[in-house]
Amino acid sequence: MVARAMNRQQSASAVPPFGVPSMVPTLNGTGFMFEVLDDYARDWIRCAGAGSGTVLDLGCAYGVATLPALAAGARVVASDMEPRHLEILAAKVPPALRGQLSCIAGALPGLDFPDGSFTAILCSRVLHFLAGEDIDISVAKMARWLVPGGRLYLVADTPYGIWRKAIPAFEAGKRASVRWPGIIVGLHDYLPTAGVKKHIDKPPFMNLLDAELLARTCTEAGLRVERASFIDRTDFRGLGRLDGRENAGAMAVKG
Ligand SMILES: C[S@@+](CC[C@H](N)C(=O)[O-])C[C@H]1O[C@@H](n2cnc3c(N)ncnc32)[C@H](O)[C@@H]1O
Repeated sequence: MVARAMNRQQSASAVPPFGVPSMVPTLNGTGFMFEVLDDYARDWIRCAGAGSGTVLDLGCAYGVATLPALAAGARVVASDMEPRHLEILAAKVPPALRGQLSCIAGALPGLDFPDGSFTAILCSRVLHFLAGEDIDISVAKMARWLVPGGRLYLVADTPYGIWRKAIPAFEAGKRASVRWPGIIVGLHDYLPTAGVKKHIDKPPFMNLLDAELLARTCTEAGLRVERASFIDRTDFRGLGRLDGRENAGAMAVKG
């Protein structure tokens, strides 16, 4: 589906306000788009602008990574399960760059593209909404969608950011070699403030991850992991005591 463009007035009024300026609430209760880019997203943008192929932004929200990639000259397929996010994104794109953007509404793990469609894929802060088997299915699909030499960039929530109450069970699960140690239900029992709860009210569970779990998924999908690490989100600090491991990322190459 190519997203219908909305005028700027409609777009601006559709996005709910939030007290932390860099966190923009989603319209479908799946948390926030972060306006502060991490190293993995920045590298995807750099790679997108440097190459001549098409790149994919999965779970793009309002385009925090898509917009700078377009500005860097990339051809971008922006995809999200929430069509209203895509409409707002499309309305933000300057007319001169609109020909570089396609918007596709769809949800992982059901989404599909032809094999070999993309030179780089970013999937930032989406996989933690999926059950373990659906993460594996989705990342295996992403591996197929890449051209040989293409790069996959994954970013996910860990237990060490806003989900800190999940740390003991997560660490116990890791020690016991539980395959998906970060599954939590009853999300509002874990969240720090009413303001955050209001914007994370749709997912029935979270599957919190770390760098090792992201790297394992990439390896099992046949990709070569070049980097996997925790990500220090200093922009989260308004939400309480955090420790520099708020997100995790992995970058893996096909072939
Ligand atoms: C927490 S926001 C992250 C936005 C942005 N990528 C970032 O890193 O800030 C999650 C986004 O992924 C979308 N999303 C959640 N689950 C999804 C799924 N299963 N398939 C596709 N998109 C999904 C949501 O609609 C939302 O726009």
